[in-house]
Amino acid sequence: MIDVRNLRKQFGSFTAVDDISFTMRPGEIFGLLGPNGAGKSTTINCVSGLIAPSGGIVEIGGHDIVREPKEAKSKLGIVPQELAIYEDLSAIHNLRFWGAAYGLKGETLASRVTEVLEVIGLVDRAGDKPKDFSGGMKRRLNFGCGIVHEPDVLLLDEPTVGVDPQSRERLHDMVRAETARGASVLYTTHHMEEAEMLCDRIAIMDQGRKIAEGTLEELRAQVGEQDVITLSGAFDAEPVETAFANLQGVSILSLEPGRLTVETADGPGRLANLLDAILGTGAEVRETLVRRPNLESLFLKLTGTELRA
Ligand SMILES: Nc1ncnc2c1ncn2[C@@H]1O[C@H](COP(=O)(O)OP(=O)(O)OP(=O)(O)O)[C@@H](O)[C@H]1O
Ligand SMILES: [Mg+2]
Repeated sequence: MIDVRNLRKQFGSFTAVDDISFTMRPGEIFGLLGPNGAGKSTTINCVSGLIAPSGGIVEIGGHDIVREPKEAKSKLGIVPQELAIYEDLSAIHNLRFWGAAYGLKGETLASRVTEVLEVIGLVDRAGDKPKDFSGGMKRRLNFGCGIVHEPDVLLLDEPTVGVDPQSRERLHDMVRAETARGASVLYTTHHMEEAEMLCDRIAIMDQGRKIAEGTLEELRAQVGEQDVITLSGAFDAEPVETAFANLQGVSILSLEPGRLTVETADGPGRLANLLDAILGTGAEVRETLVRRPNLESLFLKLTGTELRA
């Protein structure tokens, strides 16, 4: 449904998206996961045709977004990171506006708008303006505007930012309902848990590049069965590095003054041993964190930095 090949986007001499390729199939939720500034929005904006790529190809349903924008865009539904709703138009008029913009008319438009109001849970607020809505309600309406015309491909850029866990869950259900009718969904997020819960396949981005891609199982397998342990407190980096160099089966992922992250099999079982080693250098340890392999530890392993940072 979507085929992105060697996509590149420069802003002046700065490369925001660097040689990204992926394909998406019908009925699939494909996640772009990465920290702030990774290039997720820039990628999605190239896919939607909002900005022109500096290189590479984007095809939607076999149509090139640059050479055949009309055909390609007719298949798309877009839910941007910045809200695309009109604050002074009622919810129902926002939906009508976006439906009409995608070519729906008359009875088809009216019945589809009624359906979407139901889906996004705003039937009883249909006549109210978004300026009086909560953040979560605005996000739901923003989502509704992207699906009025039942697009084959839905592009969602951090649609759950600033919404409470309940609204987030509801939005996830709405996204799953879109894939159940056969749509493919491109979903960007910087929340590892969200990508883990929702996405069928995930590409991890950092500094404009794709650093990993696969199903959750495949990505977990890349971390191996290694647990990730972080020790923080007051210590210098060098003596800790020396002390840990002699420990079998432990490798340092990142080390800075006061914060050490290592990976090792059987983290809980090795913890006492690791604490002995670090306390032996005269370090003061204030906090320990043992994590099972997950996307966060994969990101840490590949980049040496925390996804949350
Ligand atoms: N129009 C622009 N002009 C110059 N630089 C830009 C422009 N748009 C984005 N960038 C830069 O490109 C990089 C990627 O930005 P982008 O918005 O794609 O990141 P993101 O992964 O969506 O981040 P976030 O999680 O914060 O939304 C950033 O360093 C950003 O400053
Ligand atoms: Mg973004």
